[in-house]
Amino acid sequence: MFAKHQPGKPAQKNYPRVCSAATLSGILLDFGADRTQSAINQFISLARQDGLLRLYIATHSTPHLKEWRIGQPTTAHAMPIQQLPGHLVNQIAAGEVVERPASVVKELVENSLDSGARAITIDIVAGGQKLVRVRDDGSGIAKDEIHLALSRHATSKITSLDDLQAVASLGFRGEALPSIASVAHLTLSSRRADSAWQVTADNGVISDPVPVAHPVGTTIEVLDLFYNTPARKKFLRTERTEFNHIEKWIRRLALARPDVAFTMTHNRRPVLQLTAATDDDARLARISKICGEAFASQALFINRETDAIALSGWIGLPTYNRSQADMQYWFVNGRSITDKTLAHAVRHAYRDVLFHGRYPAYVLHLTMDPKIVDANAHPAKHEVRFRDARSVHGVVSQAIEFALRDTRPGGHQLRPLQTTVIGSRLIQQSSMPLSTSGGMTSAVAEAMSGYQALTEIPMTERALPESADVPPLGFAVAQLGGIYILAENADGLVVIDMHAAHERIVYEKLKASFADSKIVRQPLLVPMPVSVSEAEAARAEESAALFARVGMTVDRSGPTSLLIREIPALLKQGDAEALLRDMLSDLQEADVSNQIEDTCDEILATMACHGSIRANRSLTIPEMNALLREMETTERADQCNHGRPTWTTISLADLDRLFLRGQ
Ligand SMILES: Nc1ncnc2c1ncn2[C@@H]1O[C@H](COP(=O)(O)OP(=O)(O)OP(=O)(O)O)[C@@H](O)[C@H]1O
Ligand SMILES: [Mg+2]
Repeated sequence: MFAKHQPGKPAQKNYPRVCSAATLSGILLDFGADRTQSAINQFISLARQDGLLRLYIATHSTPHLKEWRIGQPTTAHAMPIQQLPGHLVNQIAAGEVVERPASVVKELVENSLDSGARAITIDIVAGGQKLVRVRDDGSGIAKDEIHLALSRHATSKITSLDDLQAVASLGFRGEALPSIASVAHLTLSSRRADSAWQVTADNGVISDPVPVAHPVGTTIEVLDLFYNTPARKKFLRTERTEFNHIEKWIRRLALARPDVAFTMTHNRRPVLQLTAATDDDARLARISKICGEAFASQALFINRETDAIALSGWIGLPTYNRSQADMQYWFVNGRSITDKTLAHAVRHAYRDVLFHGRYPAYVLHLTMDPKIVDANAHPAKHEVRFRDARSVHGVVSQAIEFALRDTRPGGHQLRPLQTTVIGSRLIQQSSMPLSTSGGMTSAVAEAMSGYQALTEIPMTERALPESADVPPLGFAVAQLGGIYILAENADGLVVIDMHAAHERIVYEKLKASFADSKIVRQPLLVPMPVSVSEAEAARAEESAALFARVGMTVDRSGPTSLLIREIPALLKQGDAEALLRDMLSDLQEADVSNQIEDTCDEILATMACHGSIRANRSLTIPEMNALLREMETTERADQCNHGRPTWTTISLADLDRLFLRGQ
């Protein structure tokens, strides 16, 4: 009897009252996403009232059945202890190893990689439920070892505890093949030296090897997954969803090992063809095929080695970011893993260049002595444990931070925005009504005055020198809408968001001075009183040292009043009261004890925002040029400290296309 529990509904509504203890020994409940202990307990008490003996409970996220013995506990305990039959042991183990078709594919491909394969072919039928076949050109398996390959806890990859503490292969448990064979029909064909052999495994019975025609390497065919475990089969999703999971794994494995060729078909149609990559360009081409061209064309190469570890791979520019953490790949000694320390190290490195709520994209490989990383930290091998997580964190975050520093005009030779976006924006503008001349907006008026200023500059200053001498952001020609600077460089038109750009410049200066503790203070002629809440006043008092470090002197002058005596000279034109209030709310929000560095950065960012040029301030051409030159020498100047891009270009070729020139 199967009962589908509808999440959120009280247990009574879903509980099948029709079943009776006389006819049933148990019911199976599918809890889906709703698996609170209290929901489960309700079912147990209802079943107990009905005199049922057992409940089998499963959830979507963990589709393993858990048996709840709820009646006649004495009978259960009275059972003698006995060894479970081998086939059942394998099926229980399969619960962890073979969650779905994608796990079969992952395990088989990992075996192929461990065997030294140069090319792997994967054939899938019906989302892997009907057929998974993996063929490789690796070492093959000797005839007298084929039986062992299908036996539990038999492996060629480790022999001792010492080996287990320094696992260099993807497999080491000797569980995958027997687990798969216990829940599907498995055929293994392999050739090591001059003879090829085939065995089949069905319901725990392994056939004798028979000769077969097969080149050096191994083919494993897995038919009708979960044919003998209907409860597991029930948890499989649609063919498409299962195949998506398979693709996800193949993407990871293909990124982990760009030196190996991969071919995959689904329902006999080719879906993936990757040739082996031997140099960095070919590796990036593989990334482009798997992660998309947009990422590959906006990714920075990272390569950092210390005595203990080597980090290499590609990270996306901050302006190439995603709404989800779905393009983040970590490989440790070739194994795809998820790890909190590594994830945090990346987050930390991107902390002030990424737009709030957005995620960076990356494909990163860590290589280290297997002795300093424990591969045996997760039943499905999805996690590892570092012996010295702190130093791994340090190397990763520093290497990424270092690469991100050069995201400035003329730094990495990459464009922060794609021209297609710009093109569509321009097309929108071209459809604006033409009748604005009557009521000219102040922004337009300001732009016009900018244009007048431009015409007053002698022609010699405007003429563009030889392209080799033109700086990356070129020379300013005008200000637009009180927000943008228009400049001309060797490519064409450059558009700069002046507030965003200046904010980054001020922020980087503040960070540098802060790091050197060299922030110059400016005493206020008349100290400025600010009234705050009692909690804020207390927080300001506690944080006096922090304020002092950022160049502010703030005294408490009463239970709810503060006095600003000094401010950083850099911000003398800013609004000191607003700055203090923002700083207080930053302090209130952050856990200072743990996050002093981030809090300081946040405070400096707030200060930078107050200290930078506001919109609608008109700048002279020399002022604009000075800003452009500063951007070119400021680290991370491609994005403001909130992660918005600060500049983009529209090349002459783009403009020619827009105006249908030469077509
Ligand atoms: N494609 C293959 N080529 C060569 N040998 C293989 C292949 N697949 C499996 N084997 C051999 O069969 C053994 C058992 O494989 P299995 O995947 O069950 O265990 P494992 O890889 O050692 O460990 P794990 O359970 O962690 O994957 C391997 O140790 C290996 O010697
Ligand atoms: Mg294996």
